[in-house]
Amino acid sequence: MISIIGSGRVGADIAFLCAANALDDILLINRTKDKAIGESLDIANSIPSDSKFSIRGTDDFSKLSGSNIVIVSASVSIYQKYRTEHLFSQVNMIKNIAKKVKQYCPTAIVLIISNPLDVLTYFFQKESQLDRFKVIGIASSLDSSRFHYVLSEKFNVPLHSISNPTVIGEHGDSMVLLFSNIKVNNVPILSKINENEMESIVNNVKNYWKVLRMYNTRSRYGIAKRTFDVIDSFINSKDLEISASVVLDGEYGENDVSIGVPVKISKNGSIEIQKITLTPKESELLKKSSNQIRNFIKSVKS
Ligand code: 2OP
Repeated sequence: MISIIGSGRVGADIAFLCAANALDDILLINRTKDKAIGESLDIANSIPSDSKFSIRGTDDFSKLSGSNIVIVSASVSIYQKYRTEHLFSQVNMIKNIAKKVKQYCPTAIVLIISNPLDVLTYFFQKESQLDRFKVIGIASSLDSSRFHYVLSEKFNVPLHSISNPTVIGEHGDSMVLLFSNIKVNNVPILSKINENEMESIVNNVKNYWKVLRMYNTRSRYGIAKRTFDVIDSFINSKDLEISASVVLDGEYGENDVSIGVPVKISKNGSIEIQKITLTPKESELLKKSSNQIRNFIKSVKS
């Protein structure tokens, strides 16, 4: 069973993608029961007619029992200027959810979506004491898809003409865009852009979410599809290579912090952090990014 905690826009969109693709039974949990029931009644009509699966809505966390995958997209409130605006209330929320998951479905794989993503992934893993490879923060794959789109627009080429658009680090202003491995129509990108153009691309990706707000909307479809891809990978035993937030234990020279790194989900459901070569500049930016996340973690602990 796939359980989604938080049936707002993103949670409901994830549930819809999972239902329409008949991945598994779905449970929508929301602090407002009617919201969870209402969304599930509508999404139920997207389940293929030959499917054996169903969807239910509830505010009862004990219904988590039997969940194989749990998605946490809940938020105490919507941030306006910074993803860390509601840091303390979001951490309290994620700790409470972690206790419920530990109590009712301690063997589940947990995908964190809520912001501030890296800090909440860290505190969820610490509070739940789940294996660090079973608590995955989904956001750097969203940043990578934004990087991909921004490059395709800049070079006026289709997405498939661009290889390896990868973002690691914080899902935030210190994120690290890896230009060194990218090719556009098989030509290394670094031979096609200058420093100013690189900076402009970085800013476009970092500020992508703000542009959505400018157009009176908020992030939903991109993050929903990136999360669906991970759920689909686990349920249908598909290899998937993305960047995602995982608590590190020495990888990339980092310990006791959750940060976006390249990970591989294998057909057998195993998850491993992939060691890729970073330029000295990229390594320096990743160190700065991990320190940024650590500072937020420390501010909560102090
Ligand atoms: C975003 O980047 C909400 O963190 C999400 O759009």
